[in-house]
Amino acid sequence: MCGIVAYVGNKDAYPIIIKGLKRLEYRGYDSAGVAIGNDSGITTLKQKGKVSDLEAYISIKDTSGSIGIGHTRWATHGVPNQVNSHPHNSSDGKLSIIHNGIIENYASIKTALETKGYTFKSDTDTEVLIHLIEDVKKYENVSLFEAVRIALDEVVGAYAIVVMEDGVTNEFIAARKGSPLVIGIGCDEYYIASDATPIIEYTKDVVYLEDGEIARVNACEELEIKTIDNEIKTAYIHELEMSLDTIEKDGFTHFMLKEIYEQPKSILDTMRGRINPDNNEVILGGISNYEQKIMNANRIIIVACGTSWHAGLIGEYLFEDFARIPVEVEYASEFRYRNPIIRETDVVLAISQSGETADTLAALELAKEKGATILGVCNVVGSSIARLTHAGIYTHAGPEIGVASTKAFTTQVVVLTLMALRIGKQKGMLSNTNYHQIITELALIPRKVEEVLKTNSQIEIIAQQFMDVSNFLYLGRGYNFPVALEGALKLKEISYIHAEGYPAAEMKHGPIALIDDEMPIVVIATKKGNYEKVVSNIQEVKARGGRLIAIVTEGDKTVKDIADYCIEIPNCFEELTPLLTNIPLQLLSYHIALLRGCDVDQPRNLAKSVTVE
Ligand code: G6P
Repeated sequence: MCGIVAYVGNKDAYPIIIKGLKRLEYRGYDSAGVAIGNDSGITTLKQKGKVSDLEAYISIKDTSGSIGIGHTRWATHGVPNQVNSHPHNSSDGKLSIIHNGIIENYASIKTALETKGYTFKSDTDTEVLIHLIEDVKKYENVSLFEAVRIALDEVVGAYAIVVMEDGVTNEFIAARKGSPLVIGIGCDEYYIASDATPIIEYTKDVVYLEDGEIARVNACEELEIKTIDNEIKTAYIHELEMSLDTIEKDGFTHFMLKEIYEQPKSILDTMRGRINPDNNEVILGGISNYEQKIMNANRIIIVACGTSWHAGLIGEYLFEDFARIPVEVEYASEFRYRNPIIRETDVVLAISQSGETADTLAALELAKEKGATILGVCNVVGSSIARLTHAGIYTHAGPEIGVASTKAFTTQVVVLTLMALRIGKQKGMLSNTNYHQIITELALIPRKVEEVLKTNSQIEIIAQQFMDVSNFLYLGRGYNFPVALEGALKLKEISYIHAEGYPAAEMKHGPIALIDDEMPIVVIATKKGNYEKVVSNIQEVKARGGRLIAIVTEGDKTVKDIADYCIEIPNCFEELTPLLTNIPLQLLSYHIALLRGCDVDQPRNLAKSVTVE
């Protein structure tokens, strides 16, 4: 989704902004632009395509100036082209804006401005907003700070914006509602960005703007923050814990591959401090004050989107198995609009890597309004969801840059496993022996993931056989049904091959009609669970000529005799198999996408952090 970078201080702004935009590329975008201010005015330069296209376009132009704003745009209103790219200027060219989000009432504001004689060059809601700010500033005769406040009071929607003014080379105005904005504090300089990745190499001191806050950011002064309702606020400075090497490729060809390989470590980081080695007990400080509420909950409603929703499905199996609490897993986008029944005895648990997904956030707000206890499982520390919830658990996977989620998914499943174990134990639903056996097994998972990663070269060979197909079917049962869904999603996202995930037994109610000798089918057939039943499903596929890739438990003979290709995972409890079976599917997608020449880390049309509906 759109990325924002801005700099004001004593350095040249342009290189900082371009580098920052590159750091934000992972969020997904289709055009980019910058506006740089100096004593001769504001120069606005934009281009469709990648940041490197923008750089090539700018190469011989003057970019001197110590204040500037930059933007990567993920098209919402209007096609991705140069005119619709940000920054957008006011009609007199004196103000320039970058914006992430959607102004929902832009059409009525536009009509009102048109009757006043304003004309518009682009199709965007953002250009409407900067004209509105210009209009307020002119007719109310107020400062830019005040004009932004008054204009935003008229606006319905979500935004993170930065506005700069011609002739003011040491100050800009920033505001947020619904879309994140981080302000980095340097020495007589400030950095602004959609997330901390462009800021981390310059400063660790940051202020997260809260919803409805506007900041006057002047290089030589302290931050001045007020709300849209004109209430003065104090800036709270946080120290970033992220380090630069976590957002670089570190010798890997792609972030996605790096993140797949990081999983043994990220799983360990997720479990760190949460399993007491002395007594093999799970301790979850993040939810300890809400443990009773969870134990007494009539049901747990999990809300999430995309890959996080798949983790939620695994959570359903875990909570129902270990804690015997009924669970519903909902697409946040559907839940929020369907007048759901939410009771005060419900626990609503949001799962989100970014912690910023607009639909998940809105679903939680609704649940909070209705009096439910709201919890979060997020990766990004300090994110909007993390701040909204009553309590929660961070996954601690480290920054995930590849758009296709890998380590975030695995660590979400680890957190859900720990939660279900803890609550199950406290409720007396798990025997001591069972509980401790699972914890012991969980501690072995990072080493087992390392084993699975050794299948990489085998998977590369399998990928070569399937790089040209048009469709894939993924099948799994029980705990591995959500893994089949996730495997199919991963392939779609990065290789653009159509893929569907199905519960293996449902195959005969439809997808079986698709099977012929062209159709590859990925089946997860681990030794536990419904192994024999899955073997029958495999036979049904084979009888119709389908080409089979099977994920099996080491030493398996039955499936090996039937399938065309088998990838082995180490033996482990059925409940923990998703942590292993999911890895070969990530690698398979990666290699197929690579062989097809796709942009693995930044697949077309996708965004990492979906901050609009
Ligand atoms: C986007 C990303 C997915 C992610 C989904 C939910 O679609 O491309 O990888 O699973 O959003 O994001 P969240 O940050 O809430 O987990």
